[in-house]
Amino acid sequence: MNKPRITSMESTHIPQIAALELAYFSAPWDEASIRGELDNPLSLWLTAVDQGGAVLGYVGSQSCFEDADILNVCVRPEARRRGIAQALMIELERRLLPRGAERITLEVRASNAPAIRLYEKLGYLQVGTRRGYYEKPREDALILQKQLPKDS
Ligand SMILES: CC(C)(COP(=O)(O)OP(=O)(O)OC[C@H]1O[C@@H](n2cnc3c(N)ncnc32)[C@H](O)[C@@H]1OP(=O)(O)O)[C@@H](O)C(=O)NCCC(=O)NCCS
Repeated sequence: MNKPRITSMESTHIPQIAALELAYFSAPWDEASIRGELDNPLSLWLTAVDQGGAVLGYVGSQSCFEDADILNVCVRPEARRRGIAQALMIELERRLLPRGAERITLEVRASNAPAIRLYEKLGYLQVGTRRGYYEKPREDALILQKQLPKDS
């Protein structure tokens, strides 16, 4: 299988992203909310796209000065364990640095072992817990954070 192209989210990607949100998250972003991110200068969403234009995965982020938050990361089940999430996260870091980001924070369900492994592999450390943060089902969130090197 060819390596997907990592690119900025485009309008045509949004219905596919919304479908993945609905399938894999208990509080999914809908199309209109995702579309709003295209016009938000504080937002940066990236997609992994195959040669036919299908969205295999995406990552969404918002930044405020030196703090960036990852909102969501998802890869289609049939494309998992091919390094796509890792490639999305690394490219996101690369693009956040010149925007002045110094750290990235995210929340993850305490039971989401694949995602926790991914984040740990990329150097994220647990900095806190939010009790009962998630619903459907109710579950704690681990707060993970990564310090970025200073952009030079
Ligand atoms: C979590 C998720 C994004 C990982 O996507 P992916 O493209 O399969 O991840 P990658 O192939 O880039 O994996 C990178 C590393 O993450 C870890 N990892 C990923 N999936 C894993 C799994 N199922 N079990 C254990 N470790 C896993 C591994 O360390 C892996 O490195 P390795 O393959 O060299 O061992 C994907 O499983 C997914 O979309 N899950 C549903 C949505 C979700 O839970 N998102 C996170 C919300 S916070």
